[in-house]
Amino acid sequence: MTLIEPFNTILDMQHGTLQPAGQVIQRRLSDMRNMYFDRSAYEQIMAEEGDRLIYEVYNAPELPKTEDQLLHCTTLIYPGRVGQEFHMTKGHFHAKRDRAEVYVGLSGKGHLLLQTEEGTVRDIAIRPGTVAYIPPLWAHRTVNTGDQPFSFLSVWPGDAGHDYDSIEKTGFAKLLLEQEGQAVLVDNPKFHR
Ligand code: PA5
Ligand code: NI
Repeated sequence: MTLIEPFNTILDMQHGTLQPAGQVIQRRLSDMRNMYFDRSAYEQIMAEEGDRLIYEVYNAPELPKTEDQLLHCTTLIYPGRVGQEFHMTKGHFHAKRDRAEVYVGLSGKGHLLLQTEEGTVRDIAIRPGTVAYIPPLWAHRTVNTGDQPFSFLSVWPGDAGHDYDSIEKTGFAKLLLEQEGQAVLVDNPKFHR
């Protein structure tokens, strides 16, 4: 095991950023081409507005990707919708399925959708101060259901890894849509196992 110097970063609770950050990842609409339900809304935004920034991830300074380390980052999802579907993260299983994770809500309001390989879905509302536990075996995606940026802190084992492909192939069994000013969880007609 490598001896690492203890360190800290500063969490901006209002804006949802970590300073100093390591790698900062920006995900745009085109990175999520197959993930939003309403394909014509996707095409319309790309044509009229361009490749919209959906969310940013501020990783803590680089750490070894080993089981003894705890990786951590913040995620900041900008408000908006693609058709009726709220802005969201890609979502993933951990490549090592037996690895868990903790999310802590910082600002704004949103939801954490969780899904098993069998397609069972759970939905946890996230507000500032909500501590959500993602047990092993659950895929996870976050959704900004508010009109302000939604941010949260994540902590997970260094060797967990991200499996995006499985979720990209099947989709989530449920969608969070805006209907008459409310966030409504509905079945995803395009979901297939
Ligand atoms: O580790 C996590 O689960 C989070 O930090 C996510 O990676 C982050 O919220 C971005 O989502 P995704 O990795 O699905 O693009
Ligand atoms: Ni994760």
